[in-house]
Amino acid sequence: MKSRTSKKKIMLVFGTRPEAIKMCPLVNELKSRHDAFEVVVCVTGQHREMLDQVLRVFGVSPDYDLSIMKPSQTLFDITCDILTRLRTVLEAEQPDCVLVHGDTSTSFAAALACFYLHIPVGHVEAGLRTYDLDSPWPEEFNRQAVDIVSEYYFAPTLLSKRNLENEQKKVSNVYVTGNTGIDALATTVKQDYENEYLEWAQDSHLILITAHRRENLGAPMHDMFRAIRRVMEEHPHTKALYPIHMNPAVREAAHSVLDGFDRLRIIEPLGVLDFHNFLARSYLILTDSGGIQEEASGLGKPVLVMRDTTERSEGLAAGTLRLVGTSENKIYDAFTELLDNTQSYNAMSKASNPYGDGRACRRIADILEGKEIQEWIV
Ligand code: UD1
Ligand code: UDP
Repeated sequence: MKSRTSKKKIMLVFGTRPEAIKMCPLVNELKSRHDAFEVVVCVTGQHREMLDQVLRVFGVSPDYDLSIMKPSQTLFDITCDILTRLRTVLEAEQPDCVLVHGDTSTSFAAALACFYLHIPVGHVEAGLRTYDLDSPWPEEFNRQAVDIVSEYYFAPTLLSKRNLENEQKKVSNVYVTGNTGIDALATTVKQDYENEYLEWAQDSHLILITAHRRENLGAPMHDMFRAIRRVMEEHPHTKALYPIHMNPAVREAAHSVLDGFDRLRIIEPLGVLDFHNFLARSYLILTDSGGIQEEASGLGKPVLVMRDTTERSEGLAAGTLRLVGTSENKIYDAFTELLDNTQSYNAMSKASNPYGDGRACRRIADILEGKEIQEWIV
């Protein structure tokens, strides 16, 4: 990006928990460069409680809050509300560049609003792909759409850069930065962290579970939970914690299959500081999350990815992730193997982290300042 003599006005727009976790470290990095940037933070409030806890941990106070969340919101609600409410903010602020993150409806609607107003977009975590519009749904569409209108691409890995190059994006504006989610771990993971749930699990292998993907709601989610319960019933040395997403549809599925089993506790969503410290102390993670695949790899923890596709295939190649789909028997087999076969477990836990070196925010800020950077290489 070309440098200018006056300060650049950079607006960051985000609205869900994972975007906040990966954008707040960048907000703080940009804000620390007082002479270079005027920083404006706009949250859409696509999530509410789950978003607010992250803002508190990183000490970020938004300048604007579009407060769009409503219970059982549809994709229509989210997209339309953001598009119309963000227009007013963008017209008032006239930023030089708007940064959006990843693949949520917030990111898509914000990028579209910028496109309509001819405001340059910088896409943080650009270039992730499954090339399957149904999986993850609707995120694969969102991230491809954001990349169509973006001016600057902050690709977390070489693979994501290659995807963008293959799509004929402007190569000179694609940078490999590492993932800002790995930067976040530096703020949150503590040596001396303690928690009553960890005490409860200290005599066992701690299994950490999360699940929330829209395409897994219904039968796939029931299958996932049934598999987990069966394996744990057969392995008495395991205890599981499942900090559950606030989506009522997820809650209903989880409680219907998992209630009444004392070694698996469904708990409220954890604050990000707690969650990262739980991750760091887990034996194994089962998830359909995107960001947790990167964080767990960053912490050397094996992950069974309960999805049919992943846009984070670097971890499959490195050996930290295993894609197990959503069918009960496949998850049962893979989970059982990791508990019973120490060699398989060790191979996964000793694999190297391909997602970043904790310097992604600095690289992105340098690029925005017009400085040369050394790209992240695994
Ligand atoms: C969204 C993103 C998904 C991301 C996920 C992270 C889209 C289309 N999906 O999905 O990519 O992986 O966030 O978690 O953008 N809720 C609350 N309070 C909260 C958050 C959620 O009550 O703080 C409940 C609401 O009932 C809401 C429901 O959860 O209707 C679903 O939230 P929504 O943002 O629509 O979708 P997610 O499944 O969270
Ligand atoms: N996370 C959290 N508390 C929890 C569960 C997850 O703070 O109880 C964090 C986790 O560390 C990761 C992010 O939330 O950074 C992942 O969010 P989610 O799985 O909802 O979304 P995705 O990454 O799939 O878009």
